[in-house]
Amino acid sequence: MPSSDAPLLRALRGDRPDRTPVWFMRQAGRSLPEYRELRVGTRMLDACLTPDLAAEITLQPVRRHGVDAAIFFSDIVIPLRLAGIAVEIEPGRGPVFADPVRTVADVDRITAIDPEEVTAAAGPIREAVRIVTAELGDTPLIGFAGAPFTLAAYLVEGGPSKEHLRARAMMHAEPASWTRLADWLARVSAAFLRAQVEAGAAAVQLFDSWAGSLAPAVYRRHAMPHARRALEGVDAPRIHFGVGAGPFLADLRLEGLADAVGVDWRVPLDEAAAILGPDTTVQGNVDPALLGAPIDVLLAHVDDVLARGRAARAHIFNLGHGVPPETDPDVLSRIVAHVHAQDASRA
Ligand code: CP3
Repeated sequence: MPSSDAPLLRALRGDRPDRTPVWFMRQAGRSLPEYRELRVGTRMLDACLTPDLAAEITLQPVRRHGVDAAIFFSDIVIPLRLAGIAVEIEPGRGPVFADPVRTVADVDRITAIDPEEVTAAAGPIREAVRIVTAELGDTPLIGFAGAPFTLAAYLVEGGPSKEHLRARAMMHAEPASWTRLADWLARVSAAFLRAQVEAGAAAVQLFDSWAGSLAPAVYRRHAMPHARRALEGVDAPRIHFGVGAGPFLADLRLEGLADAVGVDWRVPLDEAAAILGPDTTVQGNVDPALLGAPIDVLLAHVDDVLARGRAARAHIFNLGHGVPPETDPDVLSRIVAHVHAQDASRA
C-alpha cells in the first residue's frame, strides 16, 4: 500500500511535496527494449489479459526511470473486450472492431450487454493489479480508462480515424442513440476503473484523447456528462486528461470532480492554472516533440514547464501526451533525475 504521503497523492490533494512527482503517459511500451522483448509472440490485448505479463510490463518503467507512479499496462478497449465485443489492436494502427456500432439497431445490440459483465470478467485485471501493488510498495499505481467519447470515436468508426466524423455525426443525427451509447460506455469504463481501484490502484486517470475534435458547446452537451459518469462512482483521486481540449479546458474539471487536469503540450501550464483555478492540480506538459532535441534544449523546456507549473496549487510532471515509441529511454530517465533535483517546496 502506498502511504498517503507519496508525492503523487499529496499533489493530487493540492499539497506541494518537496519533490515534484513525475510519471509519463505511455511510459510502459515500445520505447523500452525490455518491453519489446517480452511482447514477442503475444498480441497486445492478450498481453493485457495475462496477469504476470501485464504486471511485469507495468513495473519495467518504474524500475528503469524511478518515476513516482506506475500506470497500469492495459488499454482503453480492454473493458469492451471483457464485455464480449470483438476488438483487436492492429500494430501501428490502433483498435479495430469487427462490428462497428453505426445504426440505431447497432446501439440497441451493444447496450443490451450488462456493463456488470465487465466486472464479472475482470479477474485477470484484478490479479495483475494485485501483483503490481505488492511489488510497488510505496509507489502508487494509477488505474485508467477511456472517456466515453474517445471510446466511441473508435467503436462507431470501427477503427482509428482522423476526425471521428461518424461518432460526431451520431450526436446530431441520432441524439437519443448517442446518449444511450455514451452512457453505456461510461458504465463500462467505470466498471473497469472500479476493478482496478478495488484491487489496489491508488488513483485513476480518464483519457479523452480525441476530445479536441469537438467544439466546446458540443463537448459540454454530448461528452462531458458521460465523462463525469465514468469517474463519479470511483473511490480514488481522479485525473482527467484531454488532448486538444484547450478551448474548453475549464470543463475538464468536471465541476470539481477531477482532482487534477492533464494538460496537453499546447497550453502553457501557467495559463492552464489561471483557467482551472485554485482547487485543481495541473498535470503535464512537456511537448513530446522535444524528446529528441539536444539535451540542453530539452532540459531548458523542462525547467520552463516546472516554472509555469508553480502557478498551480500543485503540479504533477508529465508529458503533454504519450511517449513516442522511438524515444530514447535514457532521455526519460534524465528528465526524472532533473525534475527530482529541483527544490519543489513553496518557500
Ligand atoms: O504506459 C502506459 O501509459 C500504460 C498503458 C496504456 C496503453 N494504452 C498501452 C498500449 C495506456 C494508458 C493506453 C491508453 C490508450 N489506448 C489510449 C489513450 C492514451 C493516448 O495515447 O491518447 C488510446 C487512444 C488507446 C488506443 C490505442 N491502443 C492506440 C491508439 C494504440 C497504438 C497502436 C500502435 O501500434 O501505434 C494502442 C496500442 C497500445 N496500447 C500499445 C501500448 C503499449 C502499443 C502496442 C504495441 O506494443 O504494439
